[in-house]
Amino acid sequence: MTKIIVATAQPETTRRWLGVMQPALPEFELSAFQPGQAACGAKYAIVWGPPAELFQVETQLEAIFNLGAGVDAILGLPGLPDIPVYRLEDAGMAPQMAEYVIHYLSLYSRGFEEYALRQKQSVWTPKQGIDYARWPVGVMGLGQLGTHVAKAVAALGYPTAGWARSPREEEGIETFHGNDQFKQFLARTRVLVNLLPLTTHTRGIINSDLLRSLMPEAVVINIARGAHVVDDDLLAALDAGKVKAAVLDVFNQEPLPSDHPYWLHPKVKITPHVAAVTLESDAVEQISRRIRLLEEGKPASGLVRRDTGY
Ligand code: NAP
Ligand code: GLV
Repeated sequence: MTKIIVATAQPETTRRWLGVMQPALPEFELSAFQPGQAACGAKYAIVWGPPAELFQVETQLEAIFNLGAGVDAILGLPGLPDIPVYRLEDAGMAPQMAEYVIHYLSLYSRGFEEYALRQKQSVWTPKQGIDYARWPVGVMGLGQLGTHVAKAVAALGYPTAGWARSPREEEGIETFHGNDQFKQFLARTRVLVNLLPLTTHTRGIINSDLLRSLMPEAVVINIARGAHVVDDDLLAALDAGKVKAAVLDVFNQEPLPSDHPYWLHPKVKITPHVAAVTLESDAVEQISRRIRLLEEGKPASGLVRRDTGY
């Protein structure tokens, strides 16, 4: 029987994924990877932040399935064999991302944060209706998640733009691409949403240069990876009033250390890397379908490009 190994950073997480994957793949033998154990001769690995030892032990692997959309962690693992790596595509995360962005966007654009403060003072202060033109949204990364977010925000009436590596057209969204059009994209953006993958080209992209280029009173929403942000530059821009607020779901160090200045900063909102959570049923469906396609010698989607890093 063809063998599949499941490996994550935590034994309980591995057991959970093993428990939902095995019933979907009854013709395969699945087992949990435990450091120190002998090889089982697995052909496929299903992983999320696995120990690097996995690749020294299981030397017959032919493909790896990542239990998430972002592949920066797996691609950075020492000893990763030169075999295909597949990632999740959307897997129920795109609607969650849109919900997250609309929640925090409206906190500022509709003044909901101010109403919460006024409630504490028992003060009734209705604002004028929203002028959407004052809140142009710019989404960095127009992939599985960014495109869905941009379309959802545009559907509400916010002038919406997206920036990607390659040119494309999306109905209702102004599109920009490449380094040459980056400054132009930033200059028309007040609410910046980051949904880029973390690669050598995008690490540290949210820095003082970028923050200086946004419209005044900008709001930065980072829901991709913490290492996209140069923390000292963002804190300086917040303190200087260049940036009105930052909504951060991901951090250079996770969990965010309890003494980090972000925690108590009055202009920062924090969530613990939950902007979008992989839906088990979608992940099981995508991975089991792809394994069967590979077994039939057919191509499967979600293949990560090693040259671009996503
Ligand atoms: P994706 O489908 O691979 O899309 C990536 C997008 O980024 C593409 O549009 C790509 O351009 C663009 N891009 C890549 N490098 C670029 C560069 N140097 N300059 C400009 N654009 C560039 O990725 P996804 O599935 O939407 O996921 C995006 C990221 O979200 C993941 O990598 C992960 O880090 C993060 N994420 C976070 C959470 C959370 O809970 N916080 C959950 C899931 C995912 P092209 O279209 O031209 O290739
Ligand atoms: C979560 O952060 C993912 O990349 O799926």
